[in-house]
Amino acid sequence: MKPNSNLPELDRALRRTRLFETLKDGLLVLRAPPLRMHANDVESRHRPDADFYYLTAFPEPDAVAIFDGSADRERFVLFVQPRDPTHETWTGPQAGVEGAVETFGADAAYPMSEFDGRLAERIANSGALYHALGHDTDFDQRLLKLANQGWARRLRNQSGRSRSILDPRPMLHEMRLHKTDEEILWLRRSAEIGAAAHRRAMAETRPGLWEHEIEALLEYEFRRAGTRGWAYPSIVAAGSHATILHYTANDGQLGTDDLLLVDAGCDLDLHCSDITRTWPISNDPPAPQRKVHEAVLQAQLAAIAAVRPGATIEMIHQRALEVLCEHLLSWGCLKGSLEAVLCDGTYKPFYMHRTSHWLGLDVHDVGAYEVDGNPRPLKPGMVLTVEPGLYFSPRCEEAPEAFRGIGVRIEDDVVVTAEGCEVLTRDAPKDLDGMLNLRSGR
Ligand code: GLY
Ligand code: MN
Ligand code: MN
Repeated sequence: MKPNSNLPELDRALRRTRLFETLKDGLLVLRAPPLRMHANDVESRHRPDADFYYLTAFPEPDAVAIFDGSADRERFVLFVQPRDPTHETWTGPQAGVEGAVETFGADAAYPMSEFDGRLAERIANSGALYHALGHDTDFDQRLLKLANQGWARRLRNQSGRSRSILDPRPMLHEMRLHKTDEEILWLRRSAEIGAAAHRRAMAETRPGLWEHEIEALLEYEFRRAGTRGWAYPSIVAAGSHATILHYTANDGQLGTDDLLLVDAGCDLDLHCSDITRTWPISNDPPAPQRKVHEAVLQAQLAAIAAVRPGATIEMIHQRALEVLCEHLLSWGCLKGSLEAVLCDGTYKPFYMHRTSHWLGLDVHDVGAYEVDGNPRPLKPGMVLTVEPGLYFSPRCEEAPEAFRGIGVRIEDDVVVTAEGCEVLTRDAPKDLDGMLNLRSGR
Protein backbone atom coordinates (compact mmCIF):
# COMPACT_ATOMS: atom_id res chain seq x y z
CA MET A 1 0.00 0.00 0.00
CA LYS A 2 1.26 3.46 -0.85
CA PRO A 3 2.10 5.65 2.16
CA ASN A 4 -0.72 8.08 2.98
CA SER A 5 -3.20 6.19 0.83
CA ASN A 6 -5.70 6.31 3.71
CA LEU A 7 -6.22 10.02 3.03
CA PRO A 8 -9.43 10.92 1.18
CA GLU A 9 -9.45 11.78 -2.51
CA LEU A 10 -9.98 15.50 -2.84
CA ASP A 11 -13.15 16.40 -4.69
CA ARG A 12 -11.87 18.40 -7.63
CA ALA A 13 -15.16 18.05 -9.51
CA LEU A 14 -16.83 19.94 -6.65
CA ARG A 15 -14.14 22.61 -6.82
CA ARG A 16 -14.79 22.99 -10.54
CA THR A 17 -18.54 23.26 -9.95
CA ARG A 18 -17.90 26.06 -7.47
CA LEU A 19 -15.51 27.73 -9.89
CA PHE A 20 -18.12 27.75 -12.66
CA GLU A 21 -20.60 29.42 -10.29
CA THR A 22 -18.23 32.40 -10.04
CA LEU A 23 -16.90 32.24 -13.58
CA LYS A 24 -20.38 32.55 -15.12
CA ASP A 25 -19.85 32.70 -18.92
CA GLY A 26 -16.14 33.54 -18.56
CA LEU A 27 -13.22 31.50 -19.88
CA LEU A 28 -10.34 30.66 -17.53
CA VAL A 29 -6.98 29.55 -18.93
CA LEU A 30 -4.50 27.95 -16.51
CA ARG A 31 -1.02 26.92 -17.56
CA ALA A 32 1.14 24.08 -16.27
CA PRO A 33 4.58 25.40 -17.18
CA PRO A 34 7.17 23.42 -19.15
CA LEU A 35 10.01 21.84 -17.20
CA ARG A 36 12.72 24.21 -16.08
CA MET A 37 16.38 23.30 -16.39
CA HIS A 38 18.35 22.76 -13.21
CA ALA A 39 21.73 22.54 -14.94
CA ASN A 40 22.99 21.74 -18.40
CA ASP A 41 20.97 18.79 -19.67
CA VAL A 42 19.41 18.22 -16.24
CA GLU A 43 15.77 19.07 -15.65
CA SER A 44 14.38 20.37 -12.39
CA ARG A 45 11.83 18.21 -10.69
CA HIS A 46 8.40 19.48 -11.69
CA ARG A 47 6.18 20.98 -9.01
CA PRO A 48 2.75 21.62 -10.51
CA ASP A 49 1.41 25.14 -10.41
CA ALA A 50 -0.82 25.15 -7.32
CA ASP A 51 -3.85 26.81 -8.97
CA PHE A 52 -3.68 24.41 -11.92
CA TYR A 53 -3.26 21.38 -9.66
CA TYR A 54 -6.02 22.50 -7.26
CA LEU A 55 -8.56 22.23 -10.07
CA THR A 56 -7.14 19.40 -12.16
CA ALA A 57 -4.77 17.09 -10.17
CA PHE A 58 -2.92 16.78 -13.49
CA PRO A 59 0.75 16.30 -12.54
CA GLU A 60 2.59 16.71 -15.86
CA PRO A 61 4.35 19.81 -17.14
CA ASP A 62 3.58 21.75 -20.32
CA ALA A 63 -0.20 21.50 -20.34
CA VAL A 64 -3.11 23.94 -20.30
CA ALA A 65 -6.49 23.62 -18.60
CA ILE A 66 -9.41 25.69 -19.78
CA PHE A 67 -12.67 26.20 -17.94
CA ASP A 68 -15.26 27.49 -20.35
CA GLY A 69 -18.38 28.76 -18.60
CA SER A 70 -20.03 29.60 -21.92
CA ALA A 71 -19.88 26.03 -23.25
CA ASP A 72 -22.69 23.50 -22.92
CA ARG A 73 -20.34 20.53 -23.20
CA GLU A 74 -16.55 20.45 -22.97
CA ARG A 75 -16.47 22.97 -20.12
CA PHE A 76 -13.32 21.54 -18.52
CA VAL A 77 -10.77 20.79 -21.23
CA LEU A 78 -7.15 19.71 -20.90
CA PHE A 79 -4.50 20.28 -23.56
CA VAL A 80 -1.67 17.85 -22.80
CA GLN A 81 1.42 16.24 -24.26
CA PRO A 82 0.35 13.20 -26.29
CA ARG A 83 1.86 9.90 -25.25
CA ASP A 84 5.21 9.35 -26.91
CA PRO A 85 7.00 5.98 -26.61
CA THR A 86 10.44 7.58 -26.68
CA HIS A 87 9.49 10.05 -23.96
CA GLU A 88 7.98 7.23 -21.90
CA THR A 89 11.17 5.18 -22.27
CA TRP A 90 13.27 8.01 -20.91
CA THR A 91 11.08 9.59 -18.26
CA GLY A 92 8.11 7.33 -17.57
CA PRO A 93 4.43 7.00 -18.33
CA GLN A 94 2.34 9.92 -19.54
CA ALA A 95 -1.42 10.33 -19.17
CA GLY A 96 -1.85 11.45 -22.75
CA VAL A 97 -5.12 12.64 -24.18
CA GLU A 98 -6.99 9.49 -23.12
CA GLY A 99 -5.73 9.61 -19.54
CA ALA A 100 -6.58 13.31 -19.25
CA VAL A 101 -10.24 12.33 -19.70
CA GLU A 102 -10.29 8.93 -18.02
CA THR A 103 -8.10 9.62 -15.02
CA PHE A 104 -8.41 13.36 -14.55
CA GLY A 105 -12.05 13.83 -15.43
CA ALA A 106 -11.70 16.36 -18.25
CA ASP A 107 -14.82 16.70 -20.41
CA ALA A 108 -12.46 16.55 -23.39
CA ALA A 109 -8.72 16.56 -24.01
CA TYR A 110 -6.54 17.47 -26.98
CA PRO A 111 -2.85 17.49 -27.77
CA MET A 112 -1.13 20.70 -26.74
CA SER A 113 -0.42 21.32 -30.44
CA GLU A 114 -4.15 21.98 -30.97
CA PHE A 115 -4.41 24.64 -28.29
CA ASP A 116 -3.96 27.70 -30.54
CA GLY A 117 -6.35 26.40 -33.18
CA ARG A 118 -9.11 25.72 -30.68
CA LEU A 119 -8.84 28.66 -28.35
CA ALA A 120 -9.74 31.66 -30.52
CA GLU A 121 -13.20 30.24 -31.22
CA ARG A 122 -13.82 29.79 -27.52
CA ILE A 123 -12.68 33.32 -26.79
CA ALA A 124 -15.10 34.61 -29.43
CA ASN A 125 -18.01 32.81 -27.79
CA SER A 126 -17.32 33.42 -24.13
CA GLY A 127 -17.54 36.35 -21.77
CA ALA A 128 -14.54 37.58 -19.80
CA LEU A 129 -11.16 35.94 -20.44
CA TYR A 130 -9.24 35.10 -17.26
CA HIS A 131 -5.52 34.38 -17.19
CA ALA A 132 -2.77 35.26 -14.69
CA LEU A 133 -0.28 37.28 -16.71
CA GLY A 134 3.38 37.57 -15.80
CA HIS A 135 4.43 33.98 -15.11
CA ASP A 136 5.46 33.14 -18.67
CA THR A 137 5.76 36.06 -21.04
CA ASP A 138 5.97 33.85 -24.15
CA PHE A 139 2.68 32.22 -23.24
CA ASP A 140 1.17 35.64 -22.40
CA GLN A 141 2.05 36.89 -25.91
CA ARG A 142 0.57 33.79 -27.46
CA LEU A 143 -2.66 34.18 -25.51
CA LEU A 144 -2.94 37.87 -26.35
CA LYS A 145 -2.66 37.04 -30.04
CA LEU A 146 -5.36 34.38 -29.72
CA ALA A 147 -7.53 36.77 -27.72
CA ASN A 148 -7.31 39.39 -30.46
CA GLN A 149 -8.21 36.78 -33.05
CA GLY A 150 -11.15 35.62 -30.96
CA TRP A 151 -12.46 39.09 -30.15
CA ALA A 152 -12.25 40.03 -33.86
CA ARG A 153 -14.49 37.08 -34.70
CA ARG A 154 -17.29 38.16 -32.40
CA LEU A 155 -20.62 38.98 -34.00
CA ARG A 156 -22.05 42.45 -33.72
CA ASN A 157 -24.49 41.39 -30.97
CA GLN A 158 -21.51 40.15 -28.88
CA SER A 159 -19.58 43.41 -29.17
CA GLY A 160 -20.47 44.52 -25.63
CA ARG A 161 -18.45 41.68 -24.12
CA SER A 162 -15.17 42.22 -22.27
CA ARG A 163 -12.03 42.58 -24.36
CA SER A 164 -9.69 42.47 -21.39
CA ILE A 165 -7.61 39.73 -19.87
CA LEU A 166 -8.74 39.61 -16.25
CA ASP A 167 -6.78 38.30 -13.26
CA PRO A 168 -8.33 35.02 -12.01
CA ARG A 169 -6.26 34.92 -8.85
CA PRO A 170 -8.69 36.74 -6.52
CA MET A 171 -11.41 34.24 -7.53
CA LEU A 172 -9.20 31.13 -7.25
CA HIS A 173 -7.36 32.20 -4.14
CA GLU A 174 -10.55 32.96 -2.27
CA MET A 175 -11.49 29.32 -2.86
CA ARG A 176 -8.07 28.03 -1.79
CA LEU A 177 -8.05 30.12 1.39
CA HIS A 178 -11.07 28.28 2.84
CA LYS A 179 -10.05 24.68 3.44
CA THR A 180 -12.56 21.81 3.48
CA ASP A 181 -12.48 19.08 6.14
CA GLU A 182 -10.77 16.78 3.60
CA GLU A 183 -8.09 19.34 2.80
CA ILE A 184 -7.47 19.74 6.53
CA LEU A 185 -6.90 15.98 6.82
CA TRP A 186 -4.12 16.32 4.23
CA LEU A 187 -2.60 19.34 5.96
CA ARG A 188 -2.81 17.58 9.33
CA ARG A 189 -0.97 14.57 7.91
CA SER A 190 1.68 16.83 6.39
CA ALA A 191 2.04 18.47 9.82
CA GLU A 192 2.34 15.07 11.53
CA ILE A 193 5.09 13.96 9.17
CA GLY A 194 6.89 17.28 9.62
CA ALA A 195 6.56 17.03 13.40
CA ALA A 196 7.89 13.44 13.41
CA ALA A 197 10.95 14.61 11.46
CA HIS A 198 11.57 17.36 14.01
CA ARG A 199 11.30 14.84 16.86
CA ARG A 200 13.88 12.63 15.16
CA ALA A 201 16.19 15.61 14.69
CA MET A 202 15.78 16.58 18.36
CA ALA A 203 16.54 13.03 19.47
CA GLU A 204 19.70 12.76 17.39
CA THR A 205 21.19 16.18 18.12
CA ARG A 206 24.60 16.14 19.74
CA PRO A 207 27.66 18.41 19.74
CA GLY A 208 30.01 17.88 16.83
CA LEU A 209 27.38 16.92 14.26
CA TRP A 210 27.06 19.13 11.20
CA GLU A 211 23.97 21.10 10.24
CA HIS A 212 23.72 19.19 6.96
CA GLU A 213 23.57 15.92 8.88
CA ILE A 214 20.45 17.14 10.69
CA GLU A 215 19.11 18.39 7.35
CA ALA A 216 19.62 14.92 5.88
CA LEU A 217 17.76 13.30 8.79
CA LEU A 218 14.79 15.61 8.34
CA GLU A 219 14.62 15.05 4.61
CA TYR A 220 15.04 11.30 5.02
CA GLU A 221 11.95 11.33 7.25
CA PHE A 222 10.02 13.46 4.76
CA ARG A 223 10.72 11.12 1.86
CA ARG A 224 10.38 7.96 3.92
CA ALA A 225 6.82 9.02 4.75
CA GLY A 226 6.00 9.28 1.06
CA THR A 227 5.93 13.06 0.67
CA ARG A 228 7.50 14.94 -2.23
CA GLY A 229 10.21 16.07 0.24
CA TRP A 230 10.76 19.51 1.68
CA ALA A 231 8.15 22.21 1.20
CA TYR A 232 10.95 24.82 1.20
CA PRO A 233 14.71 24.44 1.65
CA SER A 234 15.26 23.35 5.24
CA ILE A 235 16.90 25.84 7.59
CA VAL A 236 19.23 24.11 10.05
CA ALA A 237 20.97 26.91 11.89
CA ALA A 238 23.30 26.39 14.85
CA GLY A 239 24.50 29.24 17.06
CA SER A 240 24.48 32.67 15.42
CA HIS A 241 23.35 31.20 12.09
CA ALA A 242 19.91 31.23 13.73
CA THR A 243 19.90 35.03 13.56
CA ILE A 244 19.91 34.84 9.72
CA LEU A 245 16.25 34.47 8.79
CA HIS A 246 16.70 32.59 5.52
CA TYR A 247 19.89 30.68 6.35
CA THR A 248 20.06 27.61 4.12
CA ALA A 249 23.80 26.94 3.72
CA ASN A 250 23.52 24.35 6.52
CA ASP A 251 27.28 23.84 6.51
CA GLY A 252 28.19 24.69 10.11
CA GLN A 253 29.04 22.43 13.02
CA LEU A 254 26.93 22.09 16.17
CA GLY A 255 28.80 23.60 19.11
CA THR A 256 28.17 22.46 22.68
CA ASP A 257 26.90 25.84 23.89
CA ASP A 258 24.75 26.61 20.85
CA LEU A 259 21.06 26.54 20.22
CA LEU A 260 19.89 24.84 17.05
CA LEU A 261 17.06 26.47 15.07
CA VAL A 262 15.34 24.14 12.61
CA ASP A 263 12.70 25.47 10.21
CA ALA A 264 11.62 22.56 8.04
CA GLY A 265 8.38 21.18 6.66
CA CYS A 266 7.27 18.77 3.99
CA ASP A 267 5.20 18.74 0.82
CA LEU A 268 2.53 16.04 0.85
CA ASP A 269 1.11 16.13 -2.67
CA LEU A 270 1.56 19.90 -2.40
CA HIS A 271 0.02 20.16 1.08
CA CYS A 272 2.72 21.98 3.00
CA SER A 273 3.78 21.97 6.61
CA ASP A 274 5.96 24.74 8.02
CA ILE A 275 7.50 24.07 11.44
CA THR A 276 10.20 25.76 13.47
CA ARG A 277 11.65 24.57 16.73
CA THR A 278 14.73 25.81 18.52
CA TRP A 279 16.47 23.48 20.95
CA PRO A 280 19.73 23.34 22.86
CA ILE A 281 22.61 21.24 21.64
CA SER A 282 23.79 20.52 25.16
CA ASN A 283 21.51 18.90 27.71
CA ASP A 284 21.82 21.87 30.03
CA PRO A 285 21.49 25.19 28.18
CA PRO A 286 22.91 28.36 29.73
CA ALA A 287 20.57 30.93 31.30
CA PRO A 288 20.48 33.50 28.44
CA GLN A 289 19.34 30.81 25.99
CA ARG A 290 16.67 29.64 28.43
CA LYS A 291 15.43 33.22 28.90
CA VAL A 292 15.12 33.97 25.20
CA HIS A 293 13.53 30.62 24.49
CA GLU A 294 11.00 31.10 27.30
CA ALA A 295 10.09 34.58 26.06
CA VAL A 296 9.43 33.36 22.52
CA LEU A 297 7.46 30.39 23.81
CA GLN A 298 5.27 32.68 25.94
CA ALA A 299 4.70 34.96 22.94
CA GLN A 300 3.85 32.02 20.73
CA LEU A 301 1.38 30.52 23.23
CA ALA A 302 -0.27 33.92 23.70
CA ALA A 303 -0.53 34.38 19.94
CA ILE A 304 -2.04 30.92 19.46
CA ALA A 305 -4.56 31.67 22.21
CA ALA A 306 -5.64 34.70 20.16
CA VAL A 307 -6.55 32.60 17.10
CA ARG A 308 -10.31 32.30 16.81
CA PRO A 309 -13.08 33.22 14.39
CA GLY A 310 -13.34 36.98 14.09
CA ALA A 311 -9.75 37.64 15.17
CA THR A 312 -7.32 38.89 12.53
CA ILE A 313 -3.73 38.05 11.67
CA GLU A 314 -2.90 41.60 12.72
CA MET A 315 -4.35 40.94 16.21
CA ILE A 316 -2.32 37.73 16.50
CA HIS A 317 0.83 39.63 15.52
CA GLN A 318 0.09 42.34 18.08
CA ARG A 319 -0.37 39.75 20.83
CA ALA A 320 3.00 38.17 20.04
CA LEU A 321 4.62 41.60 19.89
CA GLU A 322 3.26 42.64 23.30
CA VAL A 323 4.79 39.62 25.02
CA LEU A 324 8.11 39.88 23.16
CA CYS A 325 8.40 43.60 23.87
CA GLU A 326 7.65 43.15 27.58
CA HIS A 327 10.65 40.83 27.74
CA LEU A 328 12.86 43.08 25.62
CA LEU A 329 12.03 45.99 27.95
CA SER A 330 12.73 43.92 31.06
CA TRP A 331 16.17 42.96 29.68
CA GLY A 332 17.04 46.57 28.86
CA CYS A 333 17.17 45.94 25.11
CA LEU A 334 14.45 48.56 24.62
CA LYS A 335 13.69 51.78 26.47
CA GLY A 336 10.39 53.56 27.10
CA SER A 337 6.83 52.41 27.60
CA LEU A 338 5.32 49.29 26.05
CA GLU A 339 2.88 51.48 24.05
CA ALA A 340 5.71 53.63 22.67
CA VAL A 341 7.84 50.64 21.71
CA LEU A 342 4.92 48.99 19.92
CA CYS A 343 3.93 52.21 18.20
CA ASP A 344 7.45 53.23 17.12
CA GLY A 345 8.57 49.74 16.07
CA THR A 346 11.84 49.98 17.98
CA TYR A 347 11.65 46.19 18.48
CA LYS A 348 12.38 45.60 14.79
CA PRO A 349 16.13 44.95 15.17
CA PHE A 350 15.09 41.91 17.29
CA TYR A 351 11.84 40.88 15.57
CA MET A 352 11.68 41.93 11.95
CA HIS A 353 9.14 39.57 10.41
CA ARG A 354 5.41 39.03 10.71
CA THR A 355 3.89 36.38 12.97
CA SER A 356 1.61 34.57 10.51
CA HIS A 357 1.00 33.68 6.91
CA TRP A 358 -1.60 31.49 5.22
CA LEU A 359 -0.58 27.87 4.64
CA GLY A 360 -1.82 25.37 2.07
CA LEU A 361 -0.68 24.21 -1.36
CA ASP A 362 1.93 26.96 -1.24
CA VAL A 363 3.89 27.34 1.95
CA HIS A 364 3.23 31.07 1.84
CA ASP A 365 -0.25 30.32 0.66
CA VAL A 366 -2.51 32.54 -1.36
CA GLY A 367 -5.51 34.51 -0.16
CA ALA A 368 -6.10 38.18 0.54
CA TYR A 369 -4.92 39.39 3.94
CA GLU A 370 -7.26 42.39 3.80
CA VAL A 371 -10.87 42.82 2.84
CA ASP A 372 -12.02 46.31 1.83
CA GLY A 373 -8.79 47.73 3.20
CA ASN A 374 -9.22 46.13 6.64
CA PRO A 375 -7.47 43.11 8.17
CA ARG A 376 -9.46 40.04 7.27
CA PRO A 377 -11.44 38.33 10.09
CA LEU A 378 -10.55 34.66 10.49
CA LYS A 379 -13.11 31.96 9.78
CA PRO A 380 -13.13 28.24 10.59
CA GLY A 381 -11.19 26.31 7.96
CA MET A 382 -8.49 28.93 7.40
CA VAL A 383 -4.98 27.60 8.02
CA LEU A 384 -2.10 29.79 9.12
CA THR A 385 1.24 29.70 10.87
CA VAL A 386 2.08 31.29 14.22
CA GLU A 387 5.81 31.94 14.30
CA PRO A 388 7.23 34.62 16.57
CA GLY A 389 10.96 34.83 17.13
CA LEU A 390 13.74 36.90 18.66
CA TYR A 391 17.07 37.45 16.93
CA PHE A 392 20.14 39.00 18.53
CA SER A 393 22.71 39.54 15.84
CA PRO A 394 26.33 38.96 16.98
CA ARG A 395 26.93 42.64 16.08
CA CYS A 396 23.95 44.06 17.97
CA GLU A 397 25.05 46.53 20.63
CA GLU A 398 21.66 47.20 22.23
CA ALA A 399 21.37 43.71 23.75
CA PRO A 400 23.27 42.33 26.76
CA GLU A 401 26.45 40.67 25.53
CA ALA A 402 25.26 37.26 26.71
CA PHE A 403 22.32 37.45 24.27
CA ARG A 404 24.35 38.23 21.17
CA GLY A 405 24.30 35.45 18.60
CA ILE A 406 21.09 33.90 19.96
CA GLY A 407 18.18 33.34 17.57
CA VAL A 408 14.95 31.59 18.54
CA ARG A 409 11.82 31.04 16.49
CA ILE A 410 8.89 28.75 17.30
CA GLU A 411 6.42 28.04 14.53
CA ASP A 412 3.24 25.99 14.50
CA ASP A 413 0.58 25.45 11.86
CA VAL A 414 -2.97 26.01 13.07
CA VAL A 415 -6.44 25.64 11.63
CA VAL A 416 -9.16 27.98 12.81
CA THR A 417 -12.06 26.08 14.42
CA ALA A 418 -15.47 27.21 15.70
CA GLU A 419 -14.07 27.71 19.23
CA GLY A 420 -10.47 28.76 18.58
CA CYS A 421 -7.91 26.73 16.74
CA GLU A 422 -6.33 23.31 16.45
CA VAL A 423 -2.54 23.14 16.43
CA LEU A 424 -1.76 20.76 13.58
CA THR A 425 1.92 20.53 14.49
CA ARG A 426 1.36 19.70 18.16
CA ASP A 427 3.30 16.42 17.94
CA ALA A 428 6.57 18.35 17.93
CA PRO A 429 7.33 19.42 21.52
CA LYS A 430 8.39 23.03 21.91
CA ASP A 431 9.22 23.47 25.60
CA LEU A 432 12.85 22.84 26.52
CA ASP A 433 12.19 19.80 28.72
CA GLY A 434 9.85 18.23 26.18
CA MET A 435 12.47 18.58 23.46
CA LEU A 436 15.41 17.43 25.59
CA ASN A 437 13.48 14.45 26.93
CA LEU A 438 13.50 12.94 23.44
CA ARG A 439 17.26 12.57 23.69
CA SER A 440 18.41 9.19 24.90
CA GLY A 441 20.80 9.07 27.82
CA ARG A 442 19.35 12.16 29.42
N1 GLY B 1 9.73 28.53 6.36
C1 GLY B 1 9.24 29.73 5.82
C2 GLY B 1 8.47 30.50 6.78
O1 GLY B 1 8.47 30.19 7.95
O2 GLY B 1 7.75 31.38 6.44
MN1 MN C 1 6.26 30.17 8.07
MN1 MN D 1 8.99 28.26 8.61
